[in-house]
Amino acid sequence: MSGSHHHDPIEDNIETHPVKLAAGVAIGAAALVVGIILLAQFAVGIYQSRSLKDDPSLKAPDYDESHFTTFANYFKDKSGDLFGVPMEAFIKKEIESLSLAPLSLEKGRVIAVGDGIAEIDGLKNARAMEMVLFHEGEGESLEKAMAKDDALYGLVLNLEEGSVKVVILGNGARVREGMMVTGTGKLLSIPVGDDIVGRVVDPLGVMLDGKGAISADKDMPIERVAYGVMERSAVNFPIHTGIKAIDAMIPIGRGQRELIIGDRATGKTTIAIDAIINQKYEPKESRPICIYVAIGQKESKTARIMRELEERGAMEYTIIVNTSAADPAALQFLAPFAGAAIGEYFMQKGKDALVVYDDLSKHAVAYRQMSLLLRRPPGREAYPGDIFYLHSRLLERAAKLSKELGGGSLTALPIIETQEGDVSAFIPTNVISITDGQIFLEADLFNKGMRPALNVGISVSRVGSSAQTKAMKKVAGKIRLELAQFRELEAFMQFSQDLDEDTKKRIESGRRYTELLKQGQHDTMPFERQVAMIFGANNGLLDGSIVETIKGLEKTFLSFVDQEAKDLLPTVAKERDLSDSTQATLKELIAKFVSTHPTFYIVKQGN
Ligand SMILES: Nc1ncnc2c1ncn2[C@@H]1O[C@H](COP(=O)(O)OP(=O)(O)OP(=O)(O)O)[C@@H](O)[C@H]1O
Ligand SMILES: [Mg+2]
Repeated sequence: MSGSHHHDPIEDNIETHPVKLAAGVAIGAAALVVGIILLAQFAVGIYQSRSLKDDPSLKAPDYDESHFTTFANYFKDKSGDLFGVPMEAFIKKEIESLSLAPLSLEKGRVIAVGDGIAEIDGLKNARAMEMVLFHEGEGESLEKAMAKDDALYGLVLNLEEGSVKVVILGNGARVREGMMVTGTGKLLSIPVGDDIVGRVVDPLGVMLDGKGAISADKDMPIERVAYGVMERSAVNFPIHTGIKAIDAMIPIGRGQRELIIGDRATGKTTIAIDAIINQKYEPKESRPICIYVAIGQKESKTARIMRELEERGAMEYTIIVNTSAADPAALQFLAPFAGAAIGEYFMQKGKDALVVYDDLSKHAVAYRQMSLLLRRPPGREAYPGDIFYLHSRLLERAAKLSKELGGGSLTALPIIETQEGDVSAFIPTNVISITDGQIFLEADLFNKGMRPALNVGISVSRVGSSAQTKAMKKVAGKIRLELAQFRELEAFMQFSQDLDEDTKKRIESGRRYTELLKQGQHDTMPFERQVAMIFGANNGLLDGSIVETIKGLEKTFLSFVDQEAKDLLPTVAKERDLSDSTQATLKELIAKFVSTHPTFYIVKQGN
């Protein structure tokens, strides 16, 4: 840069860039025009409300006043009636004029397309979440386009001034500028029927397993408003995962939302799949229909999960909603909603359903990607601002319905992946706050061989214990206490060499309980067997046992009970309680087992 003459940057701007000056003037003028338009609209509003005032239908309210009194009083206290029209009547009129009937089938044109998003001109009455259809043949009728096997749909997401933006639900390369688009007037829904059970579908209801179409009897909307308080009843029945640590200490009720959260490869998916597999122990009449929603997972992982479910006979009552990492973000975004919709179909029939969202971290990423392409403003961690609302709407759909509505339920097990155990990141904190408890898995515990790698200290279930069987309640209190004491002592142990006898005993006992809670993958256990085993631990079965043999001890003891008292465990299962006589019998069996199975116990000195 030469130093010969010096420019004042501001002067430089104004003098040498008349374009910028002109732009400034243009913006000013535009602002003025917008102001005038707004004023005019306001005036028209007043005029219209005046004419509303003369509308005879608004004169005498013929509905139950009580609905509106609180709301209306709020306004009356401040400003009285709205534009001279009674507030209640005004609202009523507005609600009545709101049409939810299918709209006329509007036609539009694609004006821009890219990254799986199409901008469309002409769909003035389009609604958010409405399906639109792309016509590949010029002038093709709606019926004809819809009848095609590979009909190409879009989903309206952004309603903008003069145009709408839709995500293309399929191969975006098939959409061209100038292509015709028809609004279908239908909100996105998924066809569901009883025979969807056992199938693998995509979020739009397309069967992915090559076993042909289902005979759908209902179109379930992908998005719906969750049931209100009056339509629900309290969660009061357990959903058994078959995992001792969870069923005993973090019990999950039918209709509850329990989050499974942890770092990569800590066994999150395994817990959810085990919960599904364990449902085979439930009587057929009350067995929940299970839905596993894979969101952006590796194709090979989901295939393995399907094989495992099939091998264990669990596909008979399970549906897989599959989207892989290779699928468009829009499809991944829709997957959990489709899963919820399928669950609601069964819930509305008075049945119980269990849905696993694996996982909502990937779901948030898909939504972020979609939102950026839709040019929505990014917020914290670049996620769109409404991600919290999106997830809360999804999870709020888990419910236990009232008797009047058939008493069905939808239990949700969302999964969240954390980075280095950080639960304070945006998405984890969001989802923690909209679930009824969390199952925390820790990489540290996992690596130490504690599997499931459950951190019992910070895992909770806020509604679960009221949904625990009486039998489990009777034995679970002690195990929780023992483990809490053990955790405290363990920390203390590191500093102290010589411990008193009582402390030593507690540590020994804590070790054995911890060992008891280890459970292999897919090695689930019906609740009555869990109860018998925990009752045993509480009543001396593990005292003096060799810690490394506890797994074998457990197996042997349970077969021993099966043999010695054939009816005992089936009775616990049926009564869901642990009667005094059952407890007495179990105590006898424990004593007998200990004396007849010395290989599991440390040989005492002098014996
Ligand atoms: N209880 C268990 N006993 C033995 N192995 C287990 C157990 N739970 C999980 N594993 C193993 O640990 C590995 C990780 O499990 P899983 O895939 O369930 O974890 P994840 O947290 O879902 O992982 P990702 O973050 O990749 O989704 C798998 O190889 C699985 O077989
Ligand atoms: Mg997983």
